[in-house]
Amino acid sequence: MRRGTTRMLPNNIQTLLPLLLLHLFLCSHTIQAQPSYSNVTLKANGGDLEVVVYLPKGIKPKEPTYYLSTRFDHGSMIGSIKRTTTNKDGTKKTHVLYDINQWRVPHDPYWAESGVGLASEFGVGDDGGFCTFLCGWDQVNEVTNGVLGYQEAKHGESFLKIGVGELIKGSCNICDSTDDYRFNSPYVYAKTPIWTLQENKEGNAITLTQEASLNQHGYRLQKDISVVDDQLFVKSTLTNLGRDPFATAWYSHHFFTCDGSPVGKGYGVDLDVAGTSGQYEEPAAWFWSTPLQQYASVTPQKDKVTVEMQRGVERDVRIKAEFVKDDTSRGTFTVRGCGNSIKESIPEVGNEGSPVSMYAFNLYIETGTFSPEPQIYMHLYPGEARSWTQHLEFSDLEKEPTSPPLPLSELTQNARNTAASSFSSHPHLVFLASILISASVTMAAHAMWSKRRSTTYSGTISLSSKGYSSIPEVS
Ligand SMILES: *[C@@H]1O[C@H](CO)[C@@H](O)[C@H](O)[C@H]1NC(C)=O
Repeated sequence: MRRGTTRMLPNNIQTLLPLLLLHLFLCSHTIQAQPSYSNVTLKANGGDLEVVVYLPKGIKPKEPTYYLSTRFDHGSMIGSIKRTTTNKDGTKKTHVLYDINQWRVPHDPYWAESGVGLASEFGVGDDGGFCTFLCGWDQVNEVTNGVLGYQEAKHGESFLKIGVGELIKGSCNICDSTDDYRFNSPYVYAKTPIWTLQENKEGNAITLTQEASLNQHGYRLQKDISVVDDQLFVKSTLTNLGRDPFATAWYSHHFFTCDGSPVGKGYGVDLDVAGTSGQYEEPAAWFWSTPLQQYASVTPQKDKVTVEMQRGVERDVRIKAEFVKDDTSRGTFTVRGCGNSIKESIPEVGNEGSPVSMYAFNLYIETGTFSPEPQIYMHLYPGEARSWTQHLEFSDLEKEPTSPPLPLSELTQNARNTAASSFSSHPHLVFLASILISASVTMAAHAMWSKRRSTTYSGTISLSSKGYSSIPEVS
């Protein structure tokens, strides 16, 4: 018996060697993929709902900050949502929604796009400091693109970006002599923004506040973030602390992904834009975006428009659909993926003329994000405040449609488990399977590496020393 075991051993090691290597490979990847950032983790539903609020700089000075750049509101980095569901047989499964490491990987806190989850921006996500005439669905005039005092500032002087702070005009990476405002390029701070945090005793609610003033301009931003049962509430309150009125647009980028799955079949959304009959525009098509029709079905229905992904989105593909004006839309949508359904509504949004109204409704898609983006509009006289609340209701999908493709790590994990369980009966199969797994992992790693290199050198968005890619790196 003992002899038999010893004789078998070298054979086994030989067989298992590729699997061992693969295991080491996956473990090192896992460790790399779990960086820790300054946060408050809110809990509800008996611990079955956990929401991470990545904190602005300065609140926990010893811990690294997730986002330090100048596009998104620093109080809006709300993601890495863990939602545990109970199956009929009593077993539990934890899903991770809106996680980090899906979008703009490797993460760089200074890169303007590197938001997570509900990252939101004052403005419309486009260049230019101001829209003068016929702006948005209601064709309003004089809307700031989230910046205050921009036009009057000279090159090298300060302006305010709402939710970010005081920045220096002309200091961004791609700023040029036109001094046009570049929403997606990091600016130099004139002052360090100061945020305060209040937490409640129950551990399910926090308040973050920041204010900034410059000449006759100023704002205070307050974020009340809470979780209750299977719901998340993000209430934003903006106050005009200046002496001039202003109007601004606002939207949440809504960086949705689930369980680390690249965007593809299984992801879908219902948008409350039935009045558009499914009509949308793609002004950037063939310039930098790819038509939505090539990847998704768009089905107008009686009370909504359903967009269902039909295939995976390649790494360098960006899709942006802008729905035409719909008087009945309140910016409500329901996203689906990985057996979860999340309905977002903003109850304060009303008609043209109400304190907060619709400005536009876009859908943005890459392999690392599935982003429905209702944009809203508000006008504030000096001293006035506006509040609006993102209300997210989580639920289980009735029947899971075709689930998104498994991420690489799970595929290999499953293959490993299968291989291990059939080990005793079919050792030769293990050997074959392990060779196949190792080969495909190597090929995938190689393919990603070469793609990443080409992104870095093509120079389209290579403003940082790193190449940006939207799916997790394997190396
Ligand atoms: C949140 O902060 C705690 C320390 O307070 C840390 O242990 C944890 O890793 C952080 N979570 C994330 C997702 O960064």
